[in-house]
Amino acid sequence: MQAKKILIIGNGFLGKRCAAAWPEAVLSDKIIHSAQDVEELIDEHKPDSVLNAAGIVGKPNVDWCETHQLETIAGNTTLPIMIAEACQKKGVYLLHMGTGCIFYGYSADPKGWKEDDHPNPLAVYTRSKYAADLVLSTMPNIGIARIRMPVDYEPSPANLIDKLMSFPRVIDVINSITVVEDMINVFKQLLEKQAAGIFHVTNPGAIKHKEIVAMYEEIVDPNHKVEEWISAQELVASGLAKKTRSNTILQSGNLEKLGIQMRPVHEAVRETLKKYAELRKV
Ligand SMILES: NC(=O)c1ccc[n+]([C@@H]2O[C@H](COP(=O)([O-])OP(=O)(O)OC[C@H]3O[C@@H](n4cnc5c(N)ncnc54)[C@H](OP(=O)(O)O)[C@@H]3O)[C@@H](O)[C@H]2O)c1
Repeated sequence: MQAKKILIIGNGFLGKRCAAAWPEAVLSDKIIHSAQDVEELIDEHKPDSVLNAAGIVGKPNVDWCETHQLETIAGNTTLPIMIAEACQKKGVYLLHMGTGCIFYGYSADPKGWKEDDHPNPLAVYTRSKYAADLVLSTMPNIGIARIRMPVDYEPSPANLIDKLMSFPRVIDVINSITVVEDMINVFKQLLEKQAAGIFHVTNPGAIKHKEIVAMYEEIVDPNHKVEEWISAQELVASGLAKKTRSNTILQSGNLEKLGIQMRPVHEAVRETLKKYAELRKV
């Protein structure tokens, strides 16, 4: 089924990136307080599908959520439920943005965590996100797209490239990540198929922060230097973060079942860094 008209809720980093790529989409900046607010948006725009790109990720970073529990739960748990309620009532497909950071550590399966594995979220942000997954996954006509550590050619404080290059001390870890261009592509296909269920929208394979930094120094800035590589445990112990971060690898069997592909992670990051370097020249 073709996604004729997409309504995007959430006028932030990733909502804007999707809207820029999809001419048929409407990007709403309306702040949602109730399911009724969403029903009114649906009545106004008459979309075939809704993308929920709204949420509370914490500013300047996710540690903010540790002391703003109610705001975090309102944005990441209550809001998706209100959007889902309105979409169910109006018979409109919903693609909700989740996070793969609900998994902490690595699966015994070397390919990574599957969509129906049980996550172990530790932080307020990840617990509030997983709470929405638990509720929304009980309903039909809803897709949940879990992404991780977005990597983009456009600079942004939320872009993993900009984050890693801004830190003098960087953790030496390996992760599944999501290249934003590929994510936009996958979301489009999920919206067109109106695919229900949970999807791990991460590029196949896993990549070390050290590999991303080395590629950056090769492609973008040979003068960049990391002062010190530290362990994931040192991040919290040294006071650089309040709460342990998720480092993990996911597999994407449910996307594979639909024949939806993403570029292998090393290829996609390299291509993204080339575009990132081109943009810096302008
Ligand atoms: N960025 C990442 O690293 C990452 C990783 C995994 C998953 N995700 C998920 O991806 C989604 C989008 O993230 P993002 O990076 O684009 O975050 P973002 O830039 O902060 O965008 C989220 C947007 O949602 C808006 N919002 C919050 N509450 C709302 C409400 N009640 N009604 C309408 N809009 C509301 C925010 O407005 P205000 O700015 O005014 O609060 C913001 O514009 C989130 O669900 C996030 O959990 C992000």
